Order: sequence, then C-alpha cells, then structure tokens
Amino acid sequence: AINIAKLRADTGLITLDPGYKNTGATKSAITFLDGELGILRYRGYRIEDLAEKSTFLEVAYLLIYGELPTQSEYEKFSREITTHTLVHEDIKKILDGFPSNAHPMGVLSSMICSLTAFYPDSLDPNRSKDEVDLSIIRLIAKMPTFAAWAYKNEVGHPVNYPDNSLDYCSNFMKMMFALPAERYDVDPIVASALDKLLILHADHEQNCSTSTVRIVGSSQASLYASISAGINALWGPLHGGANQSVIEMLEAIKADGGDSKKYLAKAKDKDDPFRLMGFGHRVYKNFDPRAKIIKKAADDVLAKLGVKDPILEIAKELEHAALNDQYFIDRQLYPNVDFYSGIIYRALGIPTDMFTVMFALGRLPGWIAQWKEMRENNEPIGRPRQVYTGANERDYVTMNKR
Ligand code: ACO
Repeated sequence: AINIAKLRADTGLITLDPGYKNTGATKSAITFLDGELGILRYRGYRIEDLAEKSTFLEVAYLLIYGELPTQSEYEKFSREITTHTLVHEDIKKILDGFPSNAHPMGVLSSMICSLTAFYPDSLDPNRSKDEVDLSIIRLIAKMPTFAAWAYKNEVGHPVNYPDNSLDYCSNFMKMMFALPAERYDVDPIVASALDKLLILHADHEQNCSTSTVRIVGSSQASLYASISAGINALWGPLHGGANQSVIEMLEAIKADGGDSKKYLAKAKDKDDPFRLMGFGHRVYKNFDPRAKIIKKAADDVLAKLGVKDPILEIAKELEHAALNDQYFIDRQLYPNVDFYSGIIYRALGIPTDMFTVMFALGRLPGWIAQWKEMRENNEPIGRPRQVYTGANERDYVTMNKR
C-alpha cells in the first residue's frame, strides 16, 4: 500500500483542489446524495417520503441517532426538547446590547456561542455521552427561542417566552408573532408548511456550513462553538443567504417592470457580476430534488392561505426562461432549494432578513449529526495544505531603506 504521508514528505506532492470540488474530507453515514440523478436520502430514507410523512423532530432524531424513533423514543425526545426551550434570563441582556438593525444571523450565532458561557461544562472534550446528549437537546430546544428573539430585537417588540403546550413549529411562530395585547393562534397550515421546509433543509452532507462545523469541531471546540461557526458560514449569499438574495432579486425585477428576460441576459453577461440567485448548485447538475418538493409546497401554501404573490409569477417566468436557455442548459444550472423557499416564508409572514435564520433552524440537526459523527469517529484535526505562491526568501530591509 502507498504510504501517503511518506510520499508527501519525500516528494512535496500536494493535491490542489480550490473549493474542494472533488475532495472527500470524510466518510459519512448520514446523508446520501447523487447530483446527477437528483437523489437525496437521510440515513437511507428518501427525502420525498420524509417531507410527506414525518415531522421535523422525527427527522432530527433520525439524523442524529441513525434510526427513526419508536413512539416512546419520540415522546421522550420531544418532551426533553420542550423542557429546555427556556433560555437563561441573562441572555436577554446580550440581546439588549445589539442595535435593532443587527442582522438576525449575527445575533443568532452570538447567542448560540454564548451558551458556552452558560454551560461551561460543554467545553470539556471528554464529556460523557449523556452530557453530549443534553447539549444536543438544549441546542434544538433553544434555537427557536433565539431565532424568534433575534427577530423581536429587530422590530423592537418585547420577547415572547416559549409556550410548551405547542409543537416545535407552532411554538416558534407564536414566539415570532404574538403581541402582548393581542390573541395569537397559530394557523396549522402555517405550522405544517414550516415543518416541511425544515425537513427539506435538515442536512445536505459536506456543504460549506457543515464542513465548517466539522472542521471547527475537529479541534475539539465545543458543540455550541462549532454550531455558531456553522451559522456564520451559512450566512453568505452563495450559501444559505441565497434565499434572502432570491427574494431581493425578484423584488428588484418587479420594481424594474417585471422583465425577467432582461435579468436572464444580465446573468449570462460575463462582464456583469450579477448571478441568477437560486440557480445552480455545486453538486446537483440535473435537478435539486428539494426544489421540486418546495415548488409544489409553495403552490399549495399560497392557495390554502389565499395569498396572491406577483413575485411567484416572476419566479415561474424566470425559471421557465432559464430552463430553455442554452447558457443555463450548458452549465447545468437548475433552480435550487432556495429559489422557492423564500416565497413560502413570505407567505408565512416571515420577513426577508429572517430567511437564512429559518434555514439555520432547519439545518441544525444535520450540523449536530455531522459534529457527533466526526467526534465518534475520532477524526483528526482538519488542516488543509496549500501551494505557496509568494516571494522567495529575501533579506529584511530596515524601514529607513524601504
Ligand atoms: N447565474 C449565472 N451563471 C451562473 C450561476 C448563476 N446563478 N451559477 C453558476 N453560473 C455559471 C458560472 O458563471 C460559471 O460559468 P463559466 O463556466 O462560463 O465561467 C458556471 O456557471 C459554473 O459556475 P461555478 O461558480 O463554477 O459553480 P460552483 O459549483 O462553484 O457554484 C453556486 C455553485 C455557488 C451555487 C453557484 O451556482 C451560484 O453562485 N449560484 C447562485 C447562488 C445560490 O443560489 N446559492 C445557493 C446554493 S444552494 C444552498 O446553499 C442551499
């Protein structure tokens, strides 16, 4: 067998693969996807079946522990999550310190990282399995509270405490939208649409944010610190931030007269940095199976809620034009999951800059599962190499001679 470490030491050979387009960083038993065939499975279960038949907490359990829960396992898991939804009152002081224009993703990642201070035992890399499980429960339980509070900070409303009589998504919606002086009943259509969206976002193997979680965790940083880093990685417009960018793009097209062809031409123009947001995917080169499910869900939700959104029409026109355009065909650019998710979020009343927070809420179990797998497999610290292109050795020049 070839000793790679020795070969590298002898020859200085390094694989250069910017963006890790073809570099496997790990073995994983969590999510299977085939970009050519448009297949996505969590722990072997088809995404289409999970989106139709399961709940988000069931999928979270499946991703993290490897099997669908039995009735009693599910009840215990849900009960424990419900028990931990409250956050320490001092976290409100951290929240108060943020200006109201703070982006909720920044607020969310900071609050998640602050859990390392409230639960310092989480810093110990040698914690028992039960202690790690408790951190996992805390994260899933508190994430909706943090997410809703990040929004409340933005709009200047008092925060709502969790209502533990409600299911996961209904509790989140109530914390988001209930006002002290008004009655607020969660619409079951809204809660169920949200649950489906979270399932579709729950894991997607070694994407940018998940790789970040794994690489931060590989230094034995705590679960909370690793997830906080993942949230920051998700924030960018080329990753989770795309759902916000899609709606902003569609709104700009509408404000500019609704001519989707003009924007298609801009996206093809190599001198124009504009890209069609919500199109293209590093791995899916045929279609994104999540986009199919979401497109149908968007139609259903809008019909059930009686929402007529002109932006949906622009989205459909744009999709149709792009799918029939040689530039997009040649480059295998298809709508991704985020092309339609923003339209549903809008219909549910969720403001645009909360879209990526919604993605984070959904992706959380995947990040946790990947962190846990990485630690259980005792993976080595992540440490990529480089090909140096800087100056050769040179003599130091004192400042008065420069
Ligand atoms: N609009 C116009 N052209 C595009 C687009 C787009 N959305 N996406 C890719 N291209 C073009 C590129 O210009 C390039 O063209 P070239 O070969 O003539 O130079 C070619 O298609 C390949 O693009 P790359 O950037 O090399 O593909 P990569 O795999 O690195 O990028 C990415 C994938 C980042 C998703 C890209 O398609 C993109 O920027 N899309 C828009 C942002 C987006 O929707 N992101 C969400 C991703 S899904 C998610 O995070 C859940």
